Amino acid sequence: MLHTFDAVIVGAGGAGLRAALAASPRCKTAVLTKLYPTRSHTGAAQGGMCAALANTEEDSWEWHAFDTVKGSDYLGDQPAIDIMCKEAVDAVIELEHFGLPFTRTEDGHIDQRRFGGHTHDHGKGPVRRACYSADRTGHMILQTLYQQCLANDVQFFDEFQVLDVLISDGRAAGVVALELATGEVHTFRSKAILWATGGFGRMFKVTSNAHALTGDGPGVCFRRGIPMEDMEFFQFHPTGIYKMGILLSEAARGEGGILRNDKGERFMERYAPTIKDLAPRDMVSRAIQTEILEGRGIDGKDYVHLDLTHLDPEVIDEKLPDITEFARTYLGVEPKTECVPIQPTAHYAMGGIPTDVDGRVVIDANDTPLPGMYAAGECACVSVHGANRLGTNSLLDIVVFGRRGGEHMAEFVQDVDHAELPNDADEPTREMIDAILDREEGEAVGQLRAELQQTMTDNAGVFRTDETLAQAQEDVDEIAERYESIAIDDHGQTFNTDLAEAIELGFLIDLARALVAGARKRTESRGGHSRDDYPDRDDENFLKHTLAWLGDDGSIELDYKPVKLGRYEPQERKY
Ligand code: FUM
Repeated sequence: MLHTFDAVIVGAGGAGLRAALAASPRCKTAVLTKLYPTRSHTGAAQGGMCAALANTEEDSWEWHAFDTVKGSDYLGDQPAIDIMCKEAVDAVIELEHFGLPFTRTEDGHIDQRRFGGHTHDHGKGPVRRACYSADRTGHMILQTLYQQCLANDVQFFDEFQVLDVLISDGRAAGVVALELATGEVHTFRSKAILWATGGFGRMFKVTSNAHALTGDGPGVCFRRGIPMEDMEFFQFHPTGIYKMGILLSEAARGEGGILRNDKGERFMERYAPTIKDLAPRDMVSRAIQTEILEGRGIDGKDYVHLDLTHLDPEVIDEKLPDITEFARTYLGVEPKTECVPIQPTAHYAMGGIPTDVDGRVVIDANDTPLPGMYAAGECACVSVHGANRLGTNSLLDIVVFGRRGGEHMAEFVQDVDHAELPNDADEPTREMIDAILDREEGEAVGQLRAELQQTMTDNAGVFRTDETLAQAQEDVDEIAERYESIAIDDHGQTFNTDLAEAIELGFLIDLARALVAGARKRTESRGGHSRDDYPDRDDENFLKHTLAWLGDDGSIELDYKPVKLGRYEPQERKY
């Protein structure tokens, strides 16, 4: 079936919805989403969205920008960071006006809480910068934006999984999607496409990411010649529920929670003497992992404790209701009286589809845009997070750059015609689907995915060396080969989740290969990329972004482009 739109947005999380809201008043806009929109992973972002509102103490967007640059280990592009931090204030007020129920101060202002790496006066001490809605901030953003989209007649195609992008004459021409309910393949002709499909944390075993986070947008683009930027930088959030990885918001530490090792020590005092438990995530995750490796995990095991027992029980009930309920449900622990077992969990991809500050996808080291192609949110790399994202900057990123991308694409489509669709535009997608459906016997998808997740966690996790990365590379290459002969049990057309998962695994494998290749070549430690064999940051050789391409023969080709610097010169990163 063929559909024609001016603008197609792929993904209905915060970035996709904000882009749709920006584009739809000016052009015929469709949102394609493999989930029902309010089930998107933005709903899992708990603790807040930061903006220097200065509602509860002095703050400025320049301090926010400084923290973001330093948090990024100086790999973030400073012009983009300035835009994000400056526009943050209006973005929060706009959400408030859209109806988002922010938690309030006693005098009715939007309340603000502390979060890791956010400081006043360029690092002097923690600042209250995160605007929040208890510990359901992402959920509230999602509900609010979805309601606004419905009120503004955005057209949704729910449970449509996009499997290919059409590029014609060097321009975006459309996408091909599988309708999950019927198994029908649809072609969407469009002058502009915006990717907003979120991250790909499901390539790791312990992750806070929902099952749906399989990198479909970046995976599709990668196969069609678009590079991936800075894939080696993957964030491990310090406080995932032990063994399950489910997120326990950093807001817990923002409200005063403390991390403790087996001896009951507040070990962050040793690693970040000024801001302790509120250091950036890369540092806290490494500290936890070091405690575990040096035998100070609880009972010698691979976890430590999050201690909330000293907090006022009313604060727990009012400000941390969801995550404390998670601890009760999943661990049988009462956080008011007992410590909660936690471990670092794969949380956020700093890398992804390269874009400029208007969301335009750029395809080489000279930042050449691919006309009509856009991306925003976690699947994109602007790059505002560089080598390590600060907590609460992702909800900010999705609304700021979702809006900018949506506005730019709405302008772009005014002056162009649709690009010619390639002949048999949906043929490669049908062939891919049929190849999987027709095979009666072969490799089991679940087994291959488990092997991928195991090697990525063991060998490309919080700490890496050339030896572990070489192992990951060998394993993932072998998994990629075996993937060519996967077989599934369900050969039907209706809600074939077996098929969807098989295709998603292919995207995860391709992206894992890019991550490992970039990580092996980056012989330094920076932000979320920590190499035991190269423990220092090396600005002379690596103050640059990695670009990875998927070659025709399946090889990964790397190139680099300079970081866009600004007011802040790279310095030693102390907290
Ligand atoms: O800890 C959290 O609430 C997560 C927020 C984020 O990733 O920004």
